[in-house]
Amino acid sequence: MGIDVHTFHDVRSGTATHVVSCRTSGSCVVIDPVFDLDPKSGRTSRAPVDAVVEFIQAENLRLEWILDTHVHHDHVSGAIALREAVGGRIGIGRLVIEVGAAVRDVYALPDAATDEAVVDPFDRLLDEGDRLPFGEQTIEVWATPGHTVDHLSYRIGNAIFVGDTLFMPDSGTARCDFHRGDARRLYASIHRILAEPEETRLFVCHDYGADGSRPPAWETTVGAQRTDNIHVGDGCGEEAFVALRRERDEGLDMPALLLASLPLNIVAGRFPSPAANGRVILAMPLDVPGHAI
Ligand SMILES: [Fe+2]
Repeated sequence: MGIDVHTFHDVRSGTATHVVSCRTSGSCVVIDPVFDLDPKSGRTSRAPVDAVVEFIQAENLRLEWILDTHVHHDHVSGAIALREAVGGRIGIGRLVIEVGAAVRDVYALPDAATDEAVVDPFDRLLDEGDRLPFGEQTIEVWATPGHTVDHLSYRIGNAIFVGDTLFMPDSGTARCDFHRGDARRLYASIHRILAEPEETRLFVCHDYGADGSRPPAWETTVGAQRTDNIHVGDGCGEEAFVALRRERDEGLDMPALLLASLPLNIVAGRFPSPAANGRVILAMPLDVPGHAI
């Protein structure tokens, strides 16, 4: 028996949160949950987490793992909030320690002052080749760096959850310009994925509806990416990809939630303790060179 995938789309950040369930056992895994933060007003909302919780409870599922594909830059992870609501173990790539050290340097964070503090919210740090059982399924952990240094993909059955290595074919690939991103490493990671059988299902972490020209989508296949991906499809070589990626990245704005989300996401979406006035206050470092984070 196989898996079912139910996806929640967060409109503000364009994030696809995937709930993967084992049909026979009722165990499930959540990949890349979102906690809503409006960068304009500073208002937060548990609504994206609550939607996942309601689904898990309505379907009588048992949440085993909460997995982030990487330290995100464009939304706040809902991992901690989801675990508080329905349990499960939180996993992320081991290189969250490296990302955490860079973020701590920039922000001088009292709440995440040590490697131990960064690691504390996570139940498991993951490495290439790890195999996590859930129900009658197994999650294979693939290190797929390039978008960021810590990026992982997760293979479950005939599906791979590719995070931000690939977008939908008409939207190409993700940027590589922070967290020691590297277009050459991204190219290699993508081609590792594209070497799988063409019918392999691929689930992406973000979609923006191709600039509004179609509804948001998040499922594709290895075959479709090989032929149709506008950045790496149809035999596009490494040099051409690296040149294209670098040129595009130079022209991209920073994500609206980059500075707010980084110190939260190195600790699985844990917000800092309230200040003396009872408010939660996020730091905003100024004039940070791009390579520093
Ligand atoms: Fe990302």
